[in-house]
Amino acid sequence: MAESKMPIAVFDSGLGGISVLKELVRLLPNENFIYYGDTANAPYGIKSADEVRVLTFSVYERLKSRGVKAFVIACNTATSVAVAALREKYPDDIIIGVEPALKPAVLCAPHPTVAVLATPLTLREEKFASLMGRFSDKAKIIPFACAGLVEFVERGEITGEGLQEFLDGLLAPLKREQLDAVVLGCTHYPLVKDAILESLGGGALIFDGSEGTARETKRRLEAARLLSDGTEGSVIFLDSSYPDVENPEASALLRFGGEYLCS
Ligand code: DGL
Repeated sequence: MAESKMPIAVFDSGLGGISVLKELVRLLPNENFIYYGDTANAPYGIKSADEVRVLTFSVYERLKSRGVKAFVIACNTATSVAVAALREKYPDDIIIGVEPALKPAVLCAPHPTVAVLATPLTLREEKFASLMGRFSDKAKIIPFACAGLVEFVERGEITGEGLQEFLDGLLAPLKREQLDAVVLGCTHYPLVKDAILESLGGGALIFDGSEGTARETKRRLEAARLLSDGTEGSVIFLDSSYPDVENPEASALLRFGGEYLCS
C-alpha cells in the first residue's frame, strides 16, 4: 500500500531521465526520489521492443520491491513499449510515462512544420503512430530518428566539436525544412539542446515533455493524497553498471547528472 512518506521512482535507460528528474525536483522539492539509470543496457532505442519490454519490467519490479509510491518512466522508448503492459499488470500503481510533446508544438503556429526527434524504436511503435495521427491534420510532422545521439550523452560528451560534427551530419536533412518547432522526443536530448539548436540554426521553437511530466506526477499524487508532508527531499542514484551500490561515485549519473540537476 502506497504511503506519502515513500519515495518516487524515476527510471531511464541512463542519464536522459535526469532532464525529467530536474523538473520533478523543482516542482516537488519535498519529495524523496530514487533515480535508476539502466546504463549497463543503454541505449534502449536501437534494441527490439521485446528486449526493452523485458528490461523495463525488470527495473520496474526491482524498484517496486523497494516500496515506492509512484513510478515515473522517464524514457520515451520504455514508455512506448511497456507502459500499457505495466498498467495492466499493476492496475493499482501510479505509473507516469512520457511521450513526445507534440500537442504544444502543433499549437505554436498555424499549421506548423514540426520535427520530432526520437529513438528509432519510439518512432517505430504504434503509440507514436497514434499520437501522430491525432495531430497530422494540424501540422506537417516529420518524425526523425536520431540513432547514435544517446551514446554521446551517455559518455558525458554533451558539448564540443565531435558532438557538433555528428549533429551537423545527422540533422542536415532537417535544415532543408522551414521548421517552426522541434520536439525532443527522447529524454536524453534536452541535455544536448544547445548543440541541437546550433546545428539546426534558424529560429525553431524547442519542446520537451519534462515539465508536463512533472506536473502530471504532482497531479496524480495530489489526487491520491500521497504528496509528501516532509520538509526537504532527497535523491538516491542507482546505476545498473554498479549493481547494489547506492550513489556510486564513479557513475556518470552522479558526476554529470548531479551537475545538471544543480545547473
Ligand atoms: N532516454 C530514452 C528515451 O527517452 C532512450 C534512450 C535510449 O535509447 O536508451 O527515449
